[in-house]
Amino acid sequence: MKLEVVDLWAGTEGKTILKGLNLRVGQGEVHALMGPNGSGKSTAAYVIMGHPKYTVERGDILLDGESVLNLTPDQRAKKGLFLAFQYPIEISGVTMANFLRKAFLSVYGEEGKKVSPSEFHRRLVENFRLLQLDESFTRRYLNEGFSGGEKKRSEIVQMVTLRPKIAILDETDSGLDIDSVKVVAAAVRRAVDETGVGVLVITHYARILNYLKPDYVHVMYDGRIVVSGGPELAQELERVGYKGIEEKYLSS
Ligand SMILES: Nc1ncnc2c1ncn2[C@@H]1O[C@H](COP(=O)(O)OP(=O)(O)OP(=O)(O)O)[C@@H](O)[C@H]1O
Ligand SMILES: [Mg+2]
Repeated sequence: MKLEVVDLWAGTEGKTILKGLNLRVGQGEVHALMGPNGSGKSTAAYVIMGHPKYTVERGDILLDGESVLNLTPDQRAKKGLFLAFQYPIEISGVTMANFLRKAFLSVYGEEGKKVSPSEFHRRLVENFRLLQLDESFTRRYLNEGFSGGEKKRSEIVQMVTLRPKIAILDETDSGLDIDSVKVVAAAVRRAVDETGVGVLVITHYARILNYLKPDYVHVMYDGRIVVSGGPELAQELERVGYKGIEEKYLSS
């Protein structure tokens, strides 16, 4: 599956935030999206997912060549899109296991029912363990009382359980300790290699990229990508900061 964002202009409450965003994420590819605070990275993630708060003013979002602009977030998820939130939400009274079973059935419908509840639970426990969260997390309420790093890892549990075709991970590495960054990167890399999911990872740090080895790195400024390159771009950014990137690529 291929995600294409074509000359996307979008905003909220009368403010245009995305100003001509172009991006293509193919199957099995890992793209990193970097950029200063407020440049529109999370907005891009929300708009691609179809958050009702945002209005698309111009341009298109395509999955395998078909526009998804008129689809709800639910329908986009069924097509294989997944978003791990920068700030995961807590839902009291809904256990992780129930939430994930519901989400799985919502995405896979009748096909999903072929995975029995016990088989599903077995996979779930395995996925929690993969992210170094023990079995008891399946019984806890969605993100409630989870530490910052546990919330981020629980988002990746959702991703590997739902097996999306395209996943957007919004700063999943922020707040993770050094070992957890490795654990998350390894889980994402494994999903890419085994299921061919295309990943867009939004991050401020080269550290996760050192493990994840992205194919492409993009830098976003004021609502659009101003420079794209390979992993070396993330290293350069780490060295010279956004100031250096501005001087090199944006001065004219
Ligand atoms: N409702 C709103 N009204 C006005 N401005 C908004 C609104 N929602 C978002 N913005 C602005 O849009 C810009 C982009 O925000 P966004 O969260 O996409 O940035 P980001 O690149 O993800 O930043 P960070 O690295 O800090 O996560 C910010 O300047 C933000 O203040
Ligand atoms: Mg953000």
